[in-house]
Amino acid sequence: MPRKILVTSALPYANGAIHLGHMVEHIQTDIWVRFQKQRGHICHSVCADDTHGAPIMLRAEKLGITPESLIAQSQRDHMRDFAGFHVSYDNYYSTNSPENKQFAGEIYKKLKADGKIANRSISQLYDPQKNMFLADRFVKGECPKCAAKDQYGDNCEVCSATYSPTELKNAYSAISGATPELRESEHYFFKLGDCEEFLKVWTKESTLVDGKQRPRLQAEASNKMQEWFEAGLSDWDISRDAPYFGFEIPDAPGKYFYVWLDAPVGYMASHKNLCDRLGLDFDSYWKKDSDAELYHFIGKDILYFHALFWPAMLEYAGYRTPTAINAHGFLTVDGAKMSKSRGTFITAESYLKHLNPEWLRYYFAAKLGSGVDDLDLNLEDFSARVNSDLIGKYVNIASRAAGFISKRFEGRLHDGIFTASDYPLMDRIIALQRQLQGAGDKLAALFEAREYGRAIREIMALTDEVNQYVDSMKPWAMAKDPEQSLHLHVVCSFLINAFRILTIYLKPVLPKLAADVEQFLNVAPFTWNDAQVLLLDHTIETYQHLMTRIDPKDIAAMVEENKQNLEATTPVAKPDYEIPPITETISIDDFMKIDLRVAMITEAKAVEGADKLVSLTLDIGNETRHVFAGIKAAYKPEELQGRMTVMVANLAPRKMKFGVSEGMVLAAGGDGGLYILSPDTGAKPGMRVK
Ligand code: 2FM
Ligand code: ZN
Repeated sequence: MPRKILVTSALPYANGAIHLGHMVEHIQTDIWVRFQKQRGHICHSVCADDTHGAPIMLRAEKLGITPESLIAQSQRDHMRDFAGFHVSYDNYYSTNSPENKQFAGEIYKKLKADGKIANRSISQLYDPQKNMFLADRFVKGECPKCAAKDQYGDNCEVCSATYSPTELKNAYSAISGATPELRESEHYFFKLGDCEEFLKVWTKESTLVDGKQRPRLQAEASNKMQEWFEAGLSDWDISRDAPYFGFEIPDAPGKYFYVWLDAPVGYMASHKNLCDRLGLDFDSYWKKDSDAELYHFIGKDILYFHALFWPAMLEYAGYRTPTAINAHGFLTVDGAKMSKSRGTFITAESYLKHLNPEWLRYYFAAKLGSGVDDLDLNLEDFSARVNSDLIGKYVNIASRAAGFISKRFEGRLHDGIFTASDYPLMDRIIALQRQLQGAGDKLAALFEAREYGRAIREIMALTDEVNQYVDSMKPWAMAKDPEQSLHLHVVCSFLINAFRILTIYLKPVLPKLAADVEQFLNVAPFTWNDAQVLLLDHTIETYQHLMTRIDPKDIAAMVEENKQNLEATTPVAKPDYEIPPITETISIDDFMKIDLRVAMITEAKAVEGADKLVSLTLDIGNETRHVFAGIKAAYKPEELQGRMTVMVANLAPRKMKFGVSEGMVLAAGGDGGLYILSPDTGAKPGMRVK
């Protein structure tokens, strides 16, 4: 029985570019949706731009354009980027739409009628020049704890203290520079506390999906809920005063819905717009007790909105609630937070300029699981993995077999002698065929559970088996012996079939490549169950390259392009450590006497009896060195293992109490801490540093 499924991704803000952090989620969603469609279910995915709020209003003002024209441009850019990554929503809409205005207003009225809305006066900082209330991030001043200048109204970037904007010293409006005043204003609140009993049950519930009970929330999310319930649910401020870019609250002139009120309603609005376009029955999806499934894919940072506010709003406005919330972790690049200065805050647009989108889809899939762990894009591992798995193993199967089929057998696959049991090469073929086809159910269960990484590992294990089969059959040797022509035909026909089955399993991840394979094999778009039948006595097209290898130079060029010089915009706080004076000038020849090398720390151990030293084993390409470094106060030995650093390789060996030290690793430091140096990604052990 086909299931009825509606899937959403979080709505990106309309005032910034799509970057690879967004892509983790949109690729994760797209793989799941494509998988469901390939299985024959009725599955739709919708998304939209999240267009309201003060930052968008102010940005438009700064650019001298209307917010409407700013958000129209963003939507075009976002749609272009998603299409570039083959992320294909059935509808990509905007929260600034008539449907959204209608639903937001209706939901509000129903909540109000149900007694879930309260209003009261609050006092807030006001910019008398700009005539507007200031959200925390638009107030700046001196940190009340450490006196650092130019800190935001909610926390200090220098000492990490948190506080309220009224505690800042010498506060000023980040918009106009004026001194803010404290003023009173009436605000509207959603009484979340009144929904506690419902939410406590809802967040712990399972729902029946496809014959199985599945929890609404992942274990990690469910634990987080517990913490929130223990801390107590407070009323949620859902109104903002004019001027604000958003929807005016129906019965409250001059008051607007806070952007986070109408953002999730945007899921419904985008779906309604789709239903109207395709003639689908919207109500059958959203009414209480709907038989459709509803999934929201989100980042773990917006769980509060999706697992508390949103289900409570839906429940008390008379709608169904989500079947499940699928949260994921954040993206890191080379083990660290994405950084504009290092060039690892990579926009989707610049990625697409340099690299193939399916490489990233594959890499993310290979690292995604059903939990909320962060995902690291290690740029070196990225190219190694894609080149070895996709080019070296998977595409290789087709390229090894297809030439013989075209040149020797007029492009025709054999009619299936390998189903005749007296054929000598049969046993192995049948065994492999069973293995390939038999994996279908398990792989489907893994995709369904969003365990893409495990699915990819299984698919690659099958790919290895097929390659071993090629190596043992040696079709290139058979091709030299006219007597072996039948065997060659059978083996290559089977290999094309093996490749076809692997492609069917990879299709949710690699939709463009799969479409190219469908064309190459001259077949209709693959469904999941197509894996269970073989393609026999059928003419295929001539093989053309399906995918190229990643050239690390293109990655380097992309990173370079994303590097931004932030010095001009980031005020440099006065350092709180001593900066020693620069020492006397030396000549370049003096400097060149020092032979600095990139070194990989292959082993790091504490030294018994020495409280400052760590014993390091360093690989510098063609030799191994043992060095004692006085860095134990700053690093645990196990943190160092596997790291790259820089060493002085021609320092005379020094005999120490614990052994001989054959060089020195470089570290920055003084009274501000100790930091060992690392080269940029791509540097290899033994490279000279100058
Ligand atoms: O965090 C964000 O980027 C929000 N724009 C997500 C909104 S998701 C949904 F609720 F609209
Ligand atoms: Zn501070």
